[in-house]
Amino acid sequence: MYIGIDLGTSSVKVLLMTTDGTIVDEKTSEYAVSYPKENWAEQNPIDWWQGTVQALKKLISDNESHKSEIKGIGFSGQMHGMVALGKEGYVLTPAILWCDQRTQEECDEITKYFGKEKLSDLVGNKALPGFTAPKLIWLKKNHPDLFNQIEVILLPKDYIRYKLTGVYATDYSDASGMLLLDIEHKEYSKEMLSFIGITEIQLPELYESYEVTGMLSEEVKSLLDLSQDVIVVGGAGDQAAGAIGTGTVKEGIVSVTLGTSGVVFAAHDEYKVDDDNRLHAFCHANGHYHTMGVMLSAANCLKWWVEQGSKVEFDVLLEEVDETISEVVFLPYLMGERTPYPDPNARGTFVGMDMTTDRHDMTKAVLEGVSFGLKDSLDLLVDLNIPVDEIRVIGGGAKSMKWRQILADVFGHEIVGINTNQGGALGAAILAAVGDGAFDSVKEATTQIIKTVDTVVPNMDNHIKYLEKHKKYQKLYDCLKPYFNN
Ligand code: XUL
Repeated sequence: MYIGIDLGTSSVKVLLMTTDGTIVDEKTSEYAVSYPKENWAEQNPIDWWQGTVQALKKLISDNESHKSEIKGIGFSGQMHGMVALGKEGYVLTPAILWCDQRTQEECDEITKYFGKEKLSDLVGNKALPGFTAPKLIWLKKNHPDLFNQIEVILLPKDYIRYKLTGVYATDYSDASGMLLLDIEHKEYSKEMLSFIGITEIQLPELYESYEVTGMLSEEVKSLLDLSQDVIVVGGAGDQAAGAIGTGTVKEGIVSVTLGTSGVVFAAHDEYKVDDDNRLHAFCHANGHYHTMGVMLSAANCLKWWVEQGSKVEFDVLLEEVDETISEVVFLPYLMGERTPYPDPNARGTFVGMDMTTDRHDMTKAVLEGVSFGLKDSLDLLVDLNIPVDEIRVIGGGAKSMKWRQILADVFGHEIVGINTNQGGALGAAILAAVGDGAFDSVKEATTQIIKTVDTVVPNMDNHIKYLEKHKKYQKLYDCLKPYFNN
């Protein structure tokens, strides 16, 4: 049996999986995000650890009969966050999270110093406020005393690994989001480290996601009431782990996540990067590479419309949605945007209402606007000549078959669901199973465990109309950009 630990932003989920992929049980423990200033988002790594221990203890005690069969642990983790540790693992400062937007100035400094092209050559990506490197520069400028005490810089899930094993390690997929890794050659970029003023000794050792990084320490074994040896594998950033959980591991398969944020993710064998770095070029958890576009608010837009806009229950709103294409256009940039516009100041917008516009038109516009945002990323993948043969959809929003139909119509492509909606935690457990030798490769594991279901066929008449509406949608951002950034 294998445990997947999914260290998310609002909670940690732990899941117990048998070797054939059956999920035996799962437990969750929640923690808070603190927003000490506008655009800031922080968490205390010790809260993550306490939540993880609580969830693991419950998982193990509720499954007493399976306890001795647990052989390995894998991770899925919220990416990009900066965990700075001093001597003996002392937490120097709250972790600055992926969604924290305080570092635009530091991103501009990085881009100015290297130039866009050189930066892309060094680390495969552009400098974005969510990524780890600008956070380090921010700490150096604002708290030099703390910066000078840094013994090691970890990503969120790697702090949990350290607490479980005593080892400072990470995996290539998660390290890709630090802006410190030469993605193509899978090594830290010396030039970037020297610009920031850190050395490789302060960074965790790099592993493939399915490689063993250490063993549960004796202390943790007794805390969790386990007596056998348990391996801990590299694990992955949440998007790469989620892609393992959907079987997005070979060229041609693209997964679309309609979660809080929205992600379009393509797996491929060779390293690929687009000229403008509008897509993230990262290492994948299967040992190869992936490209992805990230929308900062996807299903979250519908949540906002339910809670703040319409104040009508989710089910009622979705019940009202019919085939009619809305006259209203919605821009989904409620928290700024990353792909295709890296613009922290972009905002949500409704355009085109008249006296006949009703609630249904507005709801439909929200579902369409999010789907257009995802299509923007899909189109960028196509521009990069990444094959799109099969689109797999997951995430909270994908539970609605109506939303899936809108997605299929907007994409003009069939979309399929998968037999589990577990995403990252399942991917993490699969990585542990591969690391333990239960499968020869990640691909073999996912082929056996993950199955596609519920094909949705696009209505091509709607698709043609949506192609026109998508153009209007794209023009709107161009028109409003000066207003957002004024
Ligand atoms: C990926 C990303 C999110 C976070 C939080 O680039 O920013 O997936 O990892 O889930």
